[in-house]
Amino acid sequence: MPVEKVCVVGMGPGAEDYLIPLARKKIEEADVLVGSPRLTGLFPGKEARGLDFSGEPPTTVSYILENRQRKRIAVLVSGDPGLYSFLGVLARYLRPEEYEIVPGISSVQLAFARLKESWEDAFIHSVHGRKLDGLIEVVKQHPKVALLTDGRLSPREIALYLRAGGIEDREMVVCSDLSYPGERVTRLDMEAAGPQAEDKGNYVMIIRGKRSC
Ligand SMILES: C[S@@+](CC[C@H](N)C(=O)[O-])C[C@H]1O[C@@H](n2cnc3c(N)ncnc32)[C@H](O)[C@@H]1O
Repeated sequence: MPVEKVCVVGMGPGAEDYLIPLARKKIEEADVLVGSPRLTGLFPGKEARGLDFSGEPPTTVSYILENRQRKRIAVLVSGDPGLYSFLGVLARYLRPEEYEIVPGISSVQLAFARLKESWEDAFIHSVHGRKLDGLIEVVKQHPKVALLTDGRLSPREIALYLRAGGIEDREMVVCSDLSYPGERVTRLDMEAAGPQAEDKGNYVMIIRGKRSC
């Protein structure tokens, strides 16, 4: 029996308009979708499994390894698979010829599109599931940082941490719920005042030198 390649599909930042046609095709062809209920739930007719990181290998990886020869499996990840996604785990257990990747539009891409700026000079950093340790050095070393967060930290908490580390001369742009109807792009200074600075939701923060306009 031919072995199907596991397909890791980048789902973009959220709204369906940002899902590329090839991603939709791979999802339609799949027998089972693996991913968070937020992503798999977009395709209600499909068999779906959530993510379980417990165990070694993680339970979800074991499921994929055991079933990939008889089922076409699409693993759905938010944004682009190459940026802080489950691909990092999966690639430790599959050989390159055993999987393929469909790129997605990253939250970082969309954040810079909203800012109407290029981002080849941006340093991408994540505090998703990690402590803030190291962020001060990253911000001191890089004039433009795109920071991925995880819903635990508000922009104000990040600003306070940076100020305690001696960083005062930066602007922070908080890009929340990108592509969704409630999308917000808010510029904050290091005082990080105002209700939006308290929001611990789904956001990318761009930290950069202050601009004159
Ligand atoms: C585990 S990382 C995955 C990043 C993803 N692979 C990408 O390319 O965007 C999840 C983080 O990405 C950011 N993110 C993902 N979708 C977002 C959205 N629609 N709006 C704002 N930030 C988003 C948030 O910082 C979130 O906590």
